[in-house]
Amino acid sequence: MRRPVVVGNWKMNNTIEEAESLTRGVIEALKGMDGVEIIICPPYTALFKVMELINGTNIMLGAQNLFHQPKGPYTGEISPIMLRDIGCRYVIIGHSERRIHLREDDETINKKVKASLDHGLIPILCVGERLDDRRMGLQEEVVLHQLSSGLNSIGRKGVEGIIIAYEPVWAIGTGVPATPQDAERMHLFIRKRLSKMYDEEIASILRILYGGSVDPGNIEDLIREPDIDGVLVGGASLDASSFSRIVRSFHKLPLSSLAG
Ligand code: PGA
Repeated sequence: MRRPVVVGNWKMNNTIEEAESLTRGVIEALKGMDGVEIIICPPYTALFKVMELINGTNIMLGAQNLFHQPKGPYTGEISPIMLRDIGCRYVIIGHSERRIHLREDDETINKKVKASLDHGLIPILCVGERLDDRRMGLQEEVVLHQLSSGLNSIGRKGVEGIIIAYEPVWAIGTGVPATPQDAERMHLFIRKRLSKMYDEEIASILRILYGGSVDPGNIEDLIREPDIDGVLVGGASLDASSFSRIVRSFHKLPLSSLAG
């Protein structure tokens, strides 16, 4: 049974004051909510504040990126050790905005996945095709390439600790999510490939999240699909009410599909 996950990716938003007010709102709205892994990923500058606020609640902390070295002369970078130190348990890796604007390539992303596993962080590895890829029917090829290079030389033991997020680039921040059927098709494809790369057990335990214009209006249809184990939420995670409605929608599923 796969425990559902909801990740709020705040991206480059929120001052410390704004982060505090949003976090307080989320804590309040999700009090007592169990059965769902709730993760918020503020920008680095708000991590400490948010960590203090969520301490002892059902909400966990994630970062949006890291550098693959533990320490040293890497001006401007943040290491996995620093993220652990501040209380992060998760880290988003390979988000398409970093692939595009920061030119992160597959090799870099693979190093980051390894570095997070080496230091006890759970990587949320993002994969997803661009609109042109999909127009040319190349979506599976692109996603497979990102998946296999992201997980390159990561063994069975390591991969157990990973979360995958399928985020079609054309759905991110556009208000146009993938249809539940298209998302499910890709999730199933990813699961089958994981089974080939590792084995069936790994494929059946790994959580695969969907991301791209998820909001309280479309969440229920998405998570009804059997291979969508949760969501990575950008825009809608910046509003406490929207984010908590998304999380709460998991409780509307038949009880049997919620792992404790
Ligand atoms: P969005 O972003 O929900 O605003 O589309 C999702 C993401 O980029 O993780």
